Amino acid sequence: MREQLEQIGVQATEALKDVMDMEKLNDIRLEYLGKKGKLTGVLRGMGKLSSEERPVIGQLANEIRDQLEQLLTEKTEQLSAEKINQQLAAEKIDITLPGKKDLLGQEHPLNLVLREMEHIFVGMGFEVIEGPEIELDYYNFEALNIPADHPARDTQDTFYVTDNILLRTQTSPVQIRTMEKQKPPIRMISPGRVFRSDQPDATHSPMFHQVEGLLIDKTVSFSDLKGILIAFVEQMFGKGRGVRFRPHHFPFTEPSAEVDIACLKCGGEGCRICSGTGWLEILGAGMVHPRVLEMANIDPKEYSGFAFGMGVERIAMLKYGIDDIRLFFENDVRFLSQF
Ligand code: PHE
Repeated sequence: MREQLEQIGVQATEALKDVMDMEKLNDIRLEYLGKKGKLTGVLRGMGKLSSEERPVIGQLANEIRDQLEQLLTEKTEQLSAEKINQQLAAEKIDITLPGKKDLLGQEHPLNLVLREMEHIFVGMGFEVIEGPEIELDYYNFEALNIPADHPARDTQDTFYVTDNILLRTQTSPVQIRTMEKQKPPIRMISPGRVFRSDQPDATHSPMFHQVEGLLIDKTVSFSDLKGILIAFVEQMFGKGRGVRFRPHHFPFTEPSAEVDIACLKCGGEGCRICSGTGWLEILGAGMVHPRVLEMANIDPKEYSGFAFGMGVERIAMLKYGIDDIRLFFENDVRFLSQF
């Protein structure tokens, strides 16, 4: 019996050595210490022992049971510690990974350019005045010296709402609205949307933006216009940028000019960007036509003035080297995030 007990002790210790999970551990506990377990079985046979042997074997049996129980407890602790460690490793958070950043919006390139334009002209004493996008034929054409049958109407394909209401084709009507409301001296710019029923392509969009400028005072001359616009070009495109005034015609200014800057790509040599001319057109301008002043109740004998109008998309395209106007309106963040 002693041998039997000792063997059980050795067997159980051996079995416990490579137990890897709790289930196995419980099986072993039952196999040796359970009601029908091996150790229990041996102890049942103790009745047959002599009274001298009984306490000796009993003590040995107790020792072996205590030993096994201690081993089982140790193993249980070991396994549950392993389990927790495994779980911790599986759920480990790598705090050194870069976090997920919220996408920050940013200003649209047209707004950037527009703000820069406003900054430049406000710095020269101009105030910003806005006008309606849905406009009367009178302000968009008539009062700008473009009567009903004037050929200039053909060059600006107009979206009409009714016979005499339209989507403004230019920001020039704000000149008239301002002159009707304010007495000279007037020094204003007017940014905003304009509409023309053009087929969209790389250089045309049915909606785009203009900035109008108007200055009315006593003894304003063409050289004042030149001075203001050259100052604008230098701030917008850098000092020393070539500027030229080319004779042109607008019904509401006389004399009129288109203003070119030296090509930003080739500097005047002639290249693909400037169609070989060395120059890029950036705006239209001129001295306000006396008839326009009269229609707005300003006496052309007392006052004179100049006006100019420029396309915001055009300036932004030149400044940033953008070759398709449609990019401004597609809202592709890959494009917008570059500015
Ligand atoms: N309104 C003109 C255009 O859209 C530009 C312009 C404005 C020209 C003011 C002269 C004076 O083409």
